[in-house]
Amino acid sequence: MTDEAQASPEPLPPLTAIPADLQSLADYERRAEAHLAPHVWRHIQSGAGAELSLAANRAQYDRRRLVPRALADMRGATSDVDLFGLRHAAPILLAPVAYHRLAHPQGELATINAATALDTTMVVSTLSSIPLEDIAEAARAAARELRKPAPPPLWFQLYVQPDREHTAELVRRAEIAGYQVLVFTVDASAKRAGFALPPGVEAANLRHWPGVTQDSRPADGRILLGTPLLDAAPTWQDLAWLRTLTRLPIVVKGLLSPDDARTAREQGADAIIVSNHGGRVLDGLAAPLDMLPAMAEAVDGALPLLLDGGIRHGTDVLKALALGASAVLVGRPQIHALAVAGMQGVAHMLHILRAELELAMAQTGRPTLSAIDESLLF
Ligand SMILES: Cc1cc2nc3c(=O)[nH]c(=O)nc-3n(C[C@H](O)[C@H](O)[C@H](O)COP(=O)(O)O)c2cc1C
Repeated sequence: MTDEAQASPEPLPPLTAIPADLQSLADYERRAEAHLAPHVWRHIQSGAGAELSLAANRAQYDRRRLVPRALADMRGATSDVDLFGLRHAAPILLAPVAYHRLAHPQGELATINAATALDTTMVVSTLSSIPLEDIAEAARAAARELRKPAPPPLWFQLYVQPDREHTAELVRRAEIAGYQVLVFTVDASAKRAGFALPPGVEAANLRHWPGVTQDSRPADGRILLGTPLLDAAPTWQDLAWLRTLTRLPIVVKGLLSPDDARTAREQGADAIIVSNHGGRVLDGLAAPLDMLPAMAEAVDGALPLLLDGGIRHGTDVLKALALGASAVLVGRPQIHALAVAGMQGVAHMLHILRAELELAMAQTGRPTLSAIDESLLF
């Protein structure tokens, strides 16, 4: 065997049963590396630059501590949360993550089946490797099979396309397919793809528009400023335009600035996801949790704030809610779980996180999300 082959063994196939030693999201993360090709593992795990943003996303939780409360009456307790009049069983959603087929042959179909079984909303990415219509249909089929009245609310994440007609078509397709919430990601428009997709994995929603996902690097010495990539990037006008295009609630994903939060509110956003894109776009950014109190002050209770980046424990969810989040999203852990054990893995990962949140609510004496406030932080 050559050195190279030794360094890059074939990834292990997904497990068909969950071993007893998988008990936390960290366990899934540790296992996942062996189930992914090395370049895919690096692509998923990595952050921008020296990974300061990525590290800050974990540190923001690790340095905060909880104060337990004893003997609270927990009868009738629930983690239900209402967003835009839609019931969500817990304040935990699956963040939009591109190309689930990088991690598992069934890709987003495995994830949506797990999410439906666990009453969890999956935010489907524009860059899904299965068409958005098929994912929505799979959610409804899974709900029927599980004898649930309906799948959990369906959310679609939008990357504005260089050709705005294509953007409008994506929105229309999402509406027709039954998506109930639109997430407009605003923090990654200047980032080049930088990752070659392996054969068999594609941007399934964009396949009829050749070229739109490819990089166009000008040969005239310009780097980013003044290039078509940046010239075509969305602006606040696109939010106002989207507002005229759809009646779905619009969630702006990727804000950290209170000024931007105010603008988003003025331009008709229905919610904001406070996020630094999992530390993947620009290094040295503030951590979302550290910005949350100022963001909450800026929107003054007028819109719900969601948050993502570094959520790995139920206590992280509780800490985010204590500082003003209405719900959180998890990104990388769904890919870890998918790679390790497909649908079963994702379902188990969601169960672990939910169970940890419920334990944390019980131990801090908070029977409902509205009872969670800053006083539970030391
Ligand atoms: C591999 C990968 C792909 C991603 N793809 C998208 C995407 O298509 N759209 C989007 O809005 N965010 C995308 N994100 C960002 C996530 O939605 C989320 O903000 C981030 O992963 C949260 O941090 P966490 O991974 O620490 O939970 C991606 C993140 C990762 C790790």
